[in-house]
Amino acid sequence: MSRVGIFGAGWVGLVTGACFAELGHDVVVRDVVAEKVGALEAGRIPIHEPGLPELIEKNRERLGFTADAAEAAQDAEFLYVCVGTPSTYSGDADLSAVWSVLDDLPPLDGRPILVMKSTVPVGTGDKVRAALDARELDHVGYVANPEFLAEGTAVRDFMNADRVVIGAYEPEDGDRVEALHETLGAPVVRSDVASAEMIKLAANAFLATRISFINEIANVCELVGADVEEVARGVGLDHRLGPHFLRAGIGFGGSCFPKDASALKQLASNSGYHFQLLSAVIEVNELQKRRVIAKLQKHLGKLRDKRIALLGLSFKPNTDDMREAPSIVLASRLLAEGAEVRGWDPVASPGELMKGVAICESVLEAVRDADAAVIVTEWDELRDLPSPEVRDAMRNPLIVDGRNLLDPEVVEQLGFAYEGIGRVSSPFSGLPETPEPEQKPA
Ligand SMILES: NC(=O)c1ccc[n+]([C@@H]2O[C@H](COP(=O)([O-])OP(=O)(O)OC[C@H]3O[C@@H](n4cnc5c(N)ncnc54)[C@H](O)[C@@H]3O)[C@@H](O)[C@H]2O)c1
Repeated sequence: MSRVGIFGAGWVGLVTGACFAELGHDVVVRDVVAEKVGALEAGRIPIHEPGLPELIEKNRERLGFTADAAEAAQDAEFLYVCVGTPSTYSGDADLSAVWSVLDDLPPLDGRPILVMKSTVPVGTGDKVRAALDARELDHVGYVANPEFLAEGTAVRDFMNADRVVIGAYEPEDGDRVEALHETLGAPVVRSDVASAEMIKLAANAFLATRISFINEIANVCELVGADVEEVARGVGLDHRLGPHFLRAGIGFGGSCFPKDASALKQLASNSGYHFQLLSAVIEVNELQKRRVIAKLQKHLGKLRDKRIALLGLSFKPNTDDMREAPSIVLASRLLAEGAEVRGWDPVASPGELMKGVAICESVLEAVRDADAAVIVTEWDELRDLPSPEVRDAMRNPLIVDGRNLLDPEVVEQLGFAYEGIGRVSSPFSGLPETPEPEQKPA
């Protein structure tokens, strides 16, 4: 069993740390945010990720937390970099947190391996290698080992990985990282460092492409009277295509797809290539969120003083991550139109990101006297949204289903107007008829 130091206690660092501890390794996770470390030491997990608190609790003996870089690095055979790499203003990846890990490294003995799990532009490995050499850390190995977990299913994704990608300069370093994952039994892809970096960016860009593709198909479906749900099912059953990431909706958000698509586009452009397809994927996604506004206007006319409930605020269900959530764009567009916006989410707290939005404790509170309810994130809790109780609470019973979560027929039967994405919409056709009370014989 190995000793692993992890830099970054976010989604990737915590899941990686907990899973390596579960595999029997000794792990210390380091973060620069002292409050985060304090919370973790006290047994409080700062993110909402199903299964993670239990896994951390179970492996407490082999899993420590610290704010001290030297403590995480001490005797570590592997130094995992799991820090954030958000977009800069130029759309490139901001690698300042990666460089801060290097700055914080204490003198190291033996041959520890710095393993890059953060998503980084192609060429980062070469730069980090050079920086290590310049700091007289040439005895430290370097391996690119990108992460593919998805928030909401992160623990399962790590423990049942589709593949483990390992790009190494020295084959022996790659062998050691491969051995660290041995008990997972996942297929291993060995490559050079640049290709491992590109595998991660290409995989995310391709997933984003599938989403924008089906969203454009949905937009055409609306114009020609087809139903994108049926189309996606028919397309996805083709074994050459598969069903994944063919769910039409109001577009992707989150901490990865938008920034990784942008980073790959900029990487190409910095290298002299205009990545046209990816530019279109990003633009389609931007426009897709805004289509909700037009759908609302179609039913309500001007949105000034209309009360709109945004239901589901995190960028996807089963996470409290608000990074690049479509709800943020929608809320600010609605506020700009003069609408009164209410928001509800079972776990996310948008705080300053949704200034001007009244955050409600329950769905019922959010939809009370609303002119429309918009399903922004497909939380399971919203499957029951179409109910007589909700209909009666709303001023105008309109549901805009931004994730095609509901069955339009059921929604219509319950007396709502319905707008989905890429499916036939239905105007408000009146409340269902209540049967006449039976006449009692005189
Ligand atoms: N979140 C995901 O679903 C996901 C999936 C795959 C890959 N990734 C990639 O993994 C990386 C991390 O993502 P995340 O979502 O976990 O980020 P995050 O922002 O949730 O966590 C990063 C953590 O690193 C800490 N940090 C910054 N500098 C540090 C330093 N010098 N030493 C120790 N800690 C430091 C921050 O305080 C923060 O807690 C990113 O490159 C991301 O693109 C993320």
